Order: sequence, then C-alpha cells, then structure tokens
Amino acid sequence: MSTSTVVVGLQWGDEGKGKIVDLLADRHDAVVRYNGGANAGHSVVIKGERFALHLIPSGILHKGKAAVVGNGVVIDPDWLARELDGLHARGVDTSSLVISDRAHVVMPWHKAEDELREKWLSEGSLEPIGTTKRGIGPCYADKATRGCAVRVGDLLTPGPLAKRLESICRLKTAMLSSIGGPDKAAYTYDHKATVDLCLAWGQRFKQYIQDTSAMLLDLQQAGKSILFEGANATLLDVDHGTYPYVTSSTCSSQGAAPGAGVPAASLGDVLGIMKAYSTRVGGGPLPTELIATEADCAMGDRIRQKGREFGTTTGRPRRVGWLDLVVVKYSARLNGAKGLSVMLLDVLGGIEQLNVATSYMIDGHPTDRITPHADWLARAKPIYQTLPGFGDLTKARKKSELPRSAIAYLDLIEATVGVPVRFVSVGPDREQTIEYS
Ligand code: GDP
Ligand code: IMO
Ligand code: MG
Repeated sequence: MSTSTVVVGLQWGDEGKGKIVDLLADRHDAVVRYNGGANAGHSVVIKGERFALHLIPSGILHKGKAAVVGNGVVIDPDWLARELDGLHARGVDTSSLVISDRAHVVMPWHKAEDELREKWLSEGSLEPIGTTKRGIGPCYADKATRGCAVRVGDLLTPGPLAKRLESICRLKTAMLSSIGGPDKAAYTYDHKATVDLCLAWGQRFKQYIQDTSAMLLDLQQAGKSILFEGANATLLDVDHGTYPYVTSSTCSSQGAAPGAGVPAASLGDVLGIMKAYSTRVGGGPLPTELIATEADCAMGDRIRQKGREFGTTTGRPRRVGWLDLVVVKYSARLNGAKGLSVMLLDVLGGIEQLNVATSYMIDGHPTDRITPHADWLARAKPIYQTLPGFGDLTKARKKSELPRSAIAYLDLIEATVGVPVRFVSVGPDREQTIEYS
C-alpha cells in the first residue's frame, strides 16, 4: 500500500495546512477532511489566485482527485452550497466531491445556540470561548446526546426525517426561546419549514452523498494512498488542547481514524504544520503573545500585517506571539509527527532579532513540558533564546538559497522538537515552497 499522510496543525490553527494539503494532493489518491466544520478556513494560492476553503477538502483544486468530507465533519449545508457555488463560478470542477452520509448537519438552532451561549458567558462571571459562532459545539453536542441529531443521510429519507424533526423542532424551540430573550420568533423552529429546508438540502447534495468509510476502505484495499486533512489544530483539540478554550472535535492526528472511518494503523505518515511564530484567534492563553509592552505590541502588529493575520473564516485579527517550541514539541509528540512543515518563515524577514521560547518558568520551576490546561498555560512565563534575524526569503526555492541565519532558526526548531523539517514555506503561493529534507 502506498503511504498515506495526516496533515495536522501543531499550534492554534491557521498554520498553513491548506497550502500543504494542496501541495501534497498530487502525491495521494484521495484527500479527506476528518473533523471540524465551517470554523476552519484553509487558504490555497495558485499563481496569485487565492481560494478559501471551509468545508470542502483543499484537494478539490486538483481536477478529478477524490475530495471526501468524512463522517467526523459537521456540515452547514448553506455554507457548503455557497462554497460550491463560489468554486463553480471560478471554473473549479467539483464532481469529485464525496460527502459522508454519517456526517452531522449543523442546523439553524446550532448556530443560534452557539451565539446565545457566547453571549450568556460574556454577560456572566465566565469568559466566552470566542467561538466562530458557526454552531460547531452545539452540533457535536447533539451528535453525542443523539436524540436531536440530524445526519447527512437523513436528508434523503423524507418520511423518517419529518417524524424526527417534529419532536426536535418542538424541543429546540422550547429550549432556545426560554433563554433567547424577548424575540421568541427568532427561536421558533417551524416543523414544516424545517422539513422543507432539509429536503431541499438533500436534493442539492444527493449526488455527492455516500458511505465514505466504505469508499476509503476500498481505496486502501486497492493500495491507494489517502491524505487526511486536519482542521483546527492540536491546541484546540477537545481533549488535548487548552480546554475550555478549544473547539469540539479531535483535531489531532488521533481523530483521523474515527473521523474518516479507517483503521488507525492505516494512517501512515504524520506531517505537523507549524507557523514560524504563534497566532491564536479567540480566547485562551497564548504564552508568547506580543502584548506586554508598546514595543511588543508594535512587533505583533508588524507580524500581523505582513502575515495577513486576519481570520480566513471570521476576519477577526489574530493574536500574535513569538514562536513557542514548548507547544510545538508537545504537539509533535502527541500527534506522532514524523516531519515538520515550517510555514510563513518569510513573514519574519527584516526583523533584527528573533525570540523563540524553548522552555517556561511555571510557579517558580523551569520546565520544557506543558500541561494543556488553560489555567496552567496562563501561568507559564516563556524563557526565550534570541537568534539573529534574516532578510527577504520569498525568492528562495532551495535550502541552499536560504541565509545561514534562517537555517540556524530551522536548526533550533529541529533540535528542540526532535523532528526533521521537511518543508519550508516562504510565501503563500504553491511555488514558494522549499523541500527541505
Ligand atoms: P490553515 O487554516 O492552516 O489552512 O491556514 P489559513 O489558510 O487559515 O492561514 C494561513 C495564511 O497564511 C493564509 O493566508 C495563507 O495564504 C498564508 N500562507 C501560507 N503559507 C505562507 C507562507 O509561507 N508565507 C506567507 N506570507 N503566507 C503564507
Ligand atoms: P483552521 O482549520 C483558528 C478557534 C476559534 C475559537 C475556538 C472555538 O482554519 O486552522 P469553534 O467555533 O470551533 O467552537 O471555536 O477555536 N478555532 C480556530 N482558530 N483556526 C481554525 O481552524 C479554528 N477553528 C476553531 O477561534 O477560539
Ligand atoms: Mg485557517
């Protein structure tokens, strides 16, 4: 069997996974998204043309490549429809898209509940999570509680669907209108209208829907290789991230097997994707965040502007910090990463001195390991190594074209994390990539 690969984010998301999936798609027979939903935003730039993918695997840009939305994904059909229309308008052939009949549907009440919960938290004594308000958490919660869930396959079964939606609409109306404030109409879910909506979605997507687990198992049996496209990232993993400031799925490589419906032993290689610095959107700790002094804030702004660090999904400015190798080392170990892809290295070009956190001081003790709890990480004070900066890297296409100081930065990453760097990215375009080792 040829080697499959899991592409996984090692920090807090937006590491550049989309670019690497697009790059590796040619070397695999199918690409599958295994987790998350429209909270993800994966950008691919081909000869200057930018594509932003939220639900559809980044491999779709390779004509004819099977692009699978696995059972572990939560699908907002309106987002999916918009994404498909956007791709069609730009001449992208989407006929190779396949959607799992077992993926869960993000319903209107999930988005309403996400919004209400965030509002509720911000008005109370707790901090909001800073979610994307795409209904991700409530949809996964319904998947786990079962009775009120709607799966993609249900959209094709009018009779049973109508029967189930009868009680689901009543329950969701009762629950949300009781906490939704005076505008009761906004939280009333009409049975007939909801059934019609679901059946329309079913008609729109029926050509793509199938048992994707069976399809992937058949491909594996035929010796084909699969590229697993992780969404979100390790520090946002519901079990292993900075809980509660996380998303609601297993974003680490461990989620690829259940989220795609294949054996864990068949996942193959794990490639960890990391930015050359740190970013985070939403709440929760970011130990190396550049906010302590005016000079720090100015440096953070400089990196934010140069790296275009504004959310692909929500447009929110991303919080920015120095590279945190304590976090990357943790994630690489947890995911079993065999190689690293260091992204956005060009963004650091022109900065005279670069700080990299290689250990922390926590409660008076030094450590190079993290405990992934939000309150633990919030107390961690980074200990930095300072390295000389480098100039413009955007034209480099080979390791030999990188300056010594850039290689020293990459050496520190390899030595601290204990995993070789395979790719270095020096610009958003497909071409701006170095096969490093
Ligand atoms: P993902 O969610 O991990 O796929 O990452 P996003 O697409 O949300 O964010 C990464 C951003 O960085 C996108 O705007 C990419 O086009 C851009 N990008 C990726 N690699 C590089 C790089 O090496 N240099 C620069 N300057 N931008 C990059
Ligand atoms: P990609 O795949 C960055 C963050 C949100 C929020 C938290 C929970 O593009 O790297 P949710 O809506 O999932 O309940 O929000 O998780 N988050 C991401 N941040 N990139 C992502 O995906 C993210 N997916 C979720 O900002 O803090
Ligand atoms: Mg993103």
